[in-house]
Amino acid sequence: MERIFLDNAATTPLDPEVLEAMTQVMRNDFGNPSSIHAEGRKARNLIEGARKTVANVLNCSIGEIFFTSGGTEANNMALKNAVRDLGVRRIISSPLEHHCVLHSLDAIRATGAARVEMVRIDEVGHVDLADLRRLLEQSDEKTLVSLMHANNEIGNLLPLQEVADLCTETGAYFHCDTVQTMGYYPIDLERTRVSFLSGSAHKFYGPKGIGFIYINNDNHIKPYLDGGAQERNMRGGTENLYGIVGLARALDKAVREREERQRRMEDVREYLIERLRATYPGVNFNGDPEHGHYKVLSVSFPESPKGDLLLMNLDMAGISASGGSACSSGIDVGSHVVGHLHPDSKRHTIRFSFSHHNTREQVDYVVERLGGML
Ligand SMILES: Cc1ncc(COP(=O)(O)O)c(C=O)c1O
Repeated sequence: MERIFLDNAATTPLDPEVLEAMTQVMRNDFGNPSSIHAEGRKARNLIEGARKTVANVLNCSIGEIFFTSGGTEANNMALKNAVRDLGVRRIISSPLEHHCVLHSLDAIRATGAARVEMVRIDEVGHVDLADLRRLLEQSDEKTLVSLMHANNEIGNLLPLQEVADLCTETGAYFHCDTVQTMGYYPIDLERTRVSFLSGSAHKFYGPKGIGFIYINNDNHIKPYLDGGAQERNMRGGTENLYGIVGLARALDKAVREREERQRRMEDVREYLIERLRATYPGVNFNGDPEHGHYKVLSVSFPESPKGDLLLMNLDMAGISASGGSACSSGIDVGSHVVGHLHPDSKRHTIRFSFSHHNTREQVDYVVERLGGML
């Protein structure tokens, strides 16, 4: 039997069409985009075409999109440049953010350049919007709000429009980590006022090591990487040409097929919830699964002697899932998100995360195999 991949929040398989587009570029278009001869111009056109695709998807201008090495770099850039260049002296964030945000906040805090305050999180992991308003109204200091659109471990969704409106009303900058929602939920930046947002191609069936940051035109920040004039002086270094082409192709396809993909993933996720509830009465779901991202389901099982080996046993049965985020040097140390919500719990958590390739038959197999592992 083929392996069953249920860890699509960690990464997604490369779409064959995207691979084909990238291969063409690798084979034929070796020019340096900064060269002025024909090879260089061809490469430059490919990059600018990709930028236009991203800008069209987000309904923003092409000058607001900058390619990066991924979501981590985009998030570092937003937070650190806002403090360095925009005079931000206070950042409001949450303890449930991705480590690339939390560790950037630690680094900023350590320099003393800005204070960091954490908004209250309710018992199922939603940001308390009344507390956010209270914090925003409490001080006149230049403030940046950094909150993720969907949590990568429990799937909870932030009411993006509401938070964007609140930040606009109170004069705060707003950075949103949209790495898990890019290509999965529509975002219209004409309507939703955001200062910075981030995307990463490998979360939407594109290649790894390429992403982008949106920087609203009103925010004048200085280069993040010093070097040549690439990315309009913002990020020196010869561009990852085939990565950029792959990112744009993958995003365009994700948006075109969004509804069909969503329908399939919702169906498989609902079916897993149903089957787990019917088969394992002690099962719980972390976060707020009724209002969560259709890609993620964080499941918790009662404490059991075999529980610590659950992920390993699943892996041996041909099923890939995770215990939390996959970004801690390959070591599954458990989820800081679930740990924050349930600090004393001894329950065993598995994060299942879906793609449109998953099927109900795969769910049946997973639910059956779990029986011998709990
Ligand atoms: C919410 C979130 N933000 C940021 C990142 C980092 O993105 P990248 O892997 O492109 O650095 C991830 C990846 O796991 C993520 O899930």
